[in-house]
Amino acid sequence: MYTLIQLPYEMGALEPVISAQTLSFHHGKHLQAYVDNLNKLLPGSGFEGMALEEIVRKAPAGPVFNNAGQILNHNLYFTQFKAAGDVAQVPSGALAAQIQKQWGSLEAFKTEFEAKGVGLFGSGWVWLSADADGSLVITQEQGASNPVVKGLKPLLTFDVWEHAYYLDYQNRRAAHLSALWQIVDWKVVESRL
Ligand SMILES: [Fe+2]
Repeated sequence: MYTLIQLPYEMGALEPVISAQTLSFHHGKHLQAYVDNLNKLLPGSGFEGMALEEIVRKAPAGPVFNNAGQILNHNLYFTQFKAAGDVAQVPSGALAAQIQKQWGSLEAFKTEFEAKGVGLFGSGWVWLSADADGSLVITQEQGASNPVVKGLKPLLTFDVWEHAYYLDYQNRRAAHLSALWQIVDWKVVESRL
């Protein structure tokens, strides 16, 4: 059985970037539904007992992939944030050096990341991942997909499904994405490299 992850902060901790109301629905309703759905789908599916990443790599397009993918995506998403005053505001070490090498500056990286999030048609996720050779890549993943499908190691993601921002930002996806940097904990992102 898969279980709903506990958030490592209080519901109001990410305000005003993400309201307690949005977080409560996003975690307690949307993510809970994906967990419940996957638990119902697994018996007899051949995917019982597998780690989420393995299911996402192996499952064909369909309900098992979609629900496992959304749990994996949201687990990485929710655990990369902290209250704005508690986060490491900039990356350091190898991650900072690689961003500098490929984009020239953190600001240039953020600009491309946000643009790819804004430009993703419909529902999905924008990701920063690492390739096998250590280079970084920004990808757009439709629906429930995750960069592990492409053999990449996922590091950072912004959820561009409307449920992630509609209560707080309505249709202003770009404003939401640019605000999210305030709560990204770069220490967590680095730890995934
Ligand atoms: Fe979401």
